[in-house]
Amino acid sequence: MSDAHGTRTPVVLDCDTGVDDACAILLAALHPRLDLRAVTCVAGNASLADVVRNTLTVLQTAARPDVPVGVGARAPLLEKPFEARHVHGADGMGDLRMPPSRLSPDPRHAVELLRDVIDAGAEEGNRVTLVPTAPQTNVALLARTYPESFARLGRVLFMGGGARVSNATAAAEFNVFHDPEAAAIVLDACAEHDVPVGMYGLDVFYVPTVTRRDVARLRAVGSPVASLASGLVEFACDRFRSEEATIGDAGAVAMLLRPEAVGTQRLPVRVELAGTWTRGRTIVDLRDWSGDMAHDPHGLAATQVDVALTVDGPALADEWLRTVGGFA
Ligand code: BDR
Ligand code: CA
Repeated sequence: MSDAHGTRTPVVLDCDTGVDDACAILLAALHPRLDLRAVTCVAGNASLADVVRNTLTVLQTAARPDVPVGVGARAPLLEKPFEARHVHGADGMGDLRMPPSRLSPDPRHAVELLRDVIDAGAEEGNRVTLVPTAPQTNVALLARTYPESFARLGRVLFMGGGARVSNATAAAEFNVFHDPEAAAIVLDACAEHDVPVGMYGLDVFYVPTVTRRDVARLRAVGSPVASLASGLVEFACDRFRSEEATIGDAGAVAMLLRPEAVGTQRLPVRVELAGTWTRGRTIVDLRDWSGDMAHDPHGLAATQVDVALTVDGPALADEWLRTVGGFA
């Protein structure tokens, strides 16, 4: 995304790479209107070590050795790690048997890398957009460790939660379920520091899809990026025995490029930290607050979030496909 002066939008992804995180990194690394300044890694879909390895593989394939990769938290703040290899494969990224990357992680911890990149963006007058596509452990640690840097973020757009849809449990989405405290801390920090926050949750996550026909088109391109992209999509189609697969986390990045394709509503959001069956649920308050809601003992949630509720799936999927396929 470019501003009025044609500047590319500086973005940082915080990932648990992951099949669909890999799709998100490819889009952020390759799109001409995005300036990917770092990728930070956190345990989630797979162990931290696997996530880091997968992230380095994707960046090498994208010919972006210049993007620093920060190694972050190896476990959620309170919970035990709860991996999703049953969705993402034994190696966490589609078991594509790719050669090991020659790239190495940045020597800074993810939290320090986030701090430095955010500060640099603010100092040059081009604030960073942070896109967490994973449990928000690193982001919460940033908010607690360097609140003055957190406050200098331009925006947080996270993949997580859902107003009406869930997946990890009947109530909760995987990223928020994996580290509910972290998600709650980040929402609080956004309110405290006036950082605009958007939620690209499960209400829209499954809508932008690509098909086995797109896999064949990508394969025909034959570039390293298109081959990786085709392998990721094919794995997801096979995994769910389907003719199509969601671009998943990549939809959140595509939303930066095509904001008009996503219908959002600014709504109060909390994270359920207690419930027996509902821990990790995002409580999105869809009520009409114009009436007198004084009877609600909880009052209005502190954080107002731009919640994605509708999406033009083909528009976002097309943005991804054109970028990774190099199609005009
Ligand atoms: C989220 O969970 C992970 O498995 C995906 O990478 C995505 O970030 C969807 O609930
Ligand atoms: Ca993810």
